[in-house]
Amino acid sequence: MPDAYILGIESSCDETAAAVVRSGEQVISNVVASQIATHQPYGGVVPELASREHLRAIVPVVRQALAQADQTYNSVDAIAVTQGPGLAGALMVCISYAKALAFALDKPLIAVNHLEGHIHAVLLEERQKGNHEVQFPVLALVVSGGHTHLYLAAQKNQGWTYENIGHTRDDAAGEAFDKVAKLLGLGYPGGPIVDRLAPHGDPTAVKFPPAQIKHRDRRDHRGPKEVESDHPRFDFSYSGIKTAVLRYVEIHDMRQSIESRRRALANISQPQLENYLANSDKKTLDLVASFQRAIVEDLVGKTLAAARAYDVATLFVTGGVAANNELRQTFEQSGAQDGLPVYFPSRPLSTDNAAMIAAAAYPKFLAKDFAAMDFSAEASLSLR
Ligand code: KG4
Ligand code: ZN
Repeated sequence: MPDAYILGIESSCDETAAAVVRSGEQVISNVVASQIATHQPYGGVVPELASREHLRAIVPVVRQALAQADQTYNSVDAIAVTQGPGLAGALMVCISYAKALAFALDKPLIAVNHLEGHIHAVLLEERQKGNHEVQFPVLALVVSGGHTHLYLAAQKNQGWTYENIGHTRDDAAGEAFDKVAKLLGLGYPGGPIVDRLAPHGDPTAVKFPPAQIKHRDRRDHRGPKEVESDHPRFDFSYSGIKTAVLRYVEIHDMRQSIESRRRALANISQPQLENYLANSDKKTLDLVASFQRAIVEDLVGKTLAAARAYDVATLFVTGGVAANNELRQTFEQSGAQDGLPVYFPSRPLSTDNAAMIAAAAYPKFLAKDFAAMDFSAEASLSLR
């Protein structure tokens, strides 16, 4: 089989990305234009602004990805694009662009699920390191700003299948990081800031009760017996901890210091760790460290329980939150205790990128699983 060079395009949230990947195993170029500066003043992603920024960025980002890969529009073998899940308007920008390219160049067009992309980021980098022998069954935790999902991933013929065995009932883990950082006047996106501040606080200072999930998932249509027996579920919930942080802030009279931090940081164009530290007292740092510890323990505890219940051979941890230092260390230590190999993408491929989209497209390219020209964006596309 000759090498296949796939151009991947991704715009599901606040990053416009393009990449060229060779045969699902080597990143040739990987360009990401971040919109952080656009959304920062609002403390979160504004969908309409995201679509406009994607429109501005898509042409130069694709050109740069091709140039860095020493490829041209004509030399690539296929064009892959994210179909969903994500912001509908944002997805539409890259889908329309990818369709136009594929039509004009007469190249195959491949539609990719964003979550499948996060899973294939791990496979891509393992192959790049020379590891072609991932052991099955594989359990993948996709933990990002929009998802906290557990999938059993299996390879069938040339393609992949996924079984969801757990998801968040409310907020995603990354969403909790972002909301708590916003609440504490630390800005957006919260995950990377909390990650860097947490080592400066005491993670045992504030005790958060473990997340309680009392009700059955109403979206789960299987009978109670089936759920409990051979297909146990491992769901997450992170809206409670966000409320607990809010309550802590109110009880400990932290409003005023939060406001002064917010104002001080707003006056600095690109705040550095020293700026965050200079504007954070011990109480805030302890709260940040304790919050991160609680999220990490919950994610690791539930995921490893699922890994044991399904007797998996390998664990993948991927998505934006997989960039978190404490999460990586805890997964590595706890996985080693259980004799379970844990694979993460490198940090640049943990957060949104297009190399993962081009990698996930490769098995579809081999299977000639091409998209029709009239396929559309699916904001809540599920993975199976
Ligand atoms: O995968 P991603 O780039 O986009 C989505 O598909 O959502 O994930 C973005 C999320 C944000 O919530 C961000 O705060 C979080 O990942 N994140 C982190 C870190 N880096 C990004 N969370 C914790 N620690 C980090 N280092
Ligand atoms: Zn993502």
